[in-house]
Amino acid sequence: MKALVLAGGSGTRLRPITHTSAKQLVPVANKPVLFYGLEAIAAAGIRELGLVVGDTHAEIESAVGDGSAFGLQVTYLRQEAPLGLAHGVLIAREFLGDEDFVMYLGDNFVVGGINDLVDRFARERPAAQIMLTRVGDPRQFGVAELDASGRVVGLEEKPAQPKSDLALVGVYLFSPAVHEAVAELKPSGRGELEITDAIQWLIEAGLRVESSVISGYWKDTGNVTDMLEVNRLVLESVEPSVRGHVDDASELVGRVVVAEGAVVERSRIVGPVIIGHGARIRESYVGPFTSIGADCAVTGSEIEYSIVLPRASIAGVGRIESSLIGHDVEVTPAPNTPRAHRLVLGDHSKVQISS
Ligand code: DAU
Repeated sequence: MKALVLAGGSGTRLRPITHTSAKQLVPVANKPVLFYGLEAIAAAGIRELGLVVGDTHAEIESAVGDGSAFGLQVTYLRQEAPLGLAHGVLIAREFLGDEDFVMYLGDNFVVGGINDLVDRFARERPAAQIMLTRVGDPRQFGVAELDASGRVVGLEEKPAQPKSDLALVGVYLFSPAVHEAVAELKPSGRGELEITDAIQWLIEAGLRVESSVISGYWKDTGNVTDMLEVNRLVLESVEPSVRGHVDDASELVGRVVVAEGAVVERSRIVGPVIIGHGARIRESYVGPFTSIGADCAVTGSEIEYSIVLPRASIAGVGRIESSLIGHDVEVTPAPNTPRAHRLVLGDHSKVQISS
């Protein structure tokens, strides 16, 4: 079995965080979300992986390299534009050959790995196997309709009037039968070759499509609220370790990771928290479910339930909560007069100011 991971596309919903960078590299507990998928694939015993990349290919390639760090052999597949998930399968045709494969969306996060799914697929050998989960707003997903016996009878991509609340999770298993389906597809209303339509084609061709409804946690990490939630979940099981320097005037409570080269002075850190390589925390409070990226500086401030990306600095600004702060961002207090907010914000920024 091979793996096909989709890490192309453009991350419009996380703008401006991913305006210029790949959304699959946004860190969860200081590790790119994509890496969790690669680890799950390697843990399922798969070695050969095709990685679909687009405009952000240089960044993805420098993070993943040849895959050996994950025990994988990576072949990069360049997609000239985000023409759809099924288009990813189309351009991977030669790489995939006639093998079964798992297709994994690079911005999805599946708790508990994929070993059970891969085992089930190998045992039952359907044409396709999908995972479903109940969601609040199915209109943002591929949606499945099941019959009374639980068999998938229809699939629709982002329907205006969903027939159920069962959304497709971004991990699919396919036999080579899917290539015939993909070759027949026409672009959808949004101009993409939809993998949902390919699976519908398999159902209509009378081929077996298996599904399982998972109650375990998963998220498409395409938006900030989800990112913070996934970060919380991963931090909950982080192993505490202190490799950096924590002075005597500081206090660490609960699960706290202080990476090598990080410095904590006169501060209180209440876990679960991860403080990245080379970060400096001074006279501050860092509260539960916070990831501070490498080489960040937090001084005279309080922060909780947030993700701070590498090299950002936060100084003297009171309390920050439920925030995602990008690379190299500077957050500082305004001078006292006049009492006004002075902002330099990128396109599509979202700011909530309490006055
Ligand atoms: O997350 C689950 C959902 O993923 C499913 O419920 C939907 O049925 C499925 O279509 C997909 O919907 P999204 O609109 O969320 O997909 P998105 O455009 O975010 O792309 C998912 C990943 O695939 C992301 O890592 C970018 C990558 N991608 C996407 C496209 C359209 C590519 O590599 N190439 C592409 O052409």
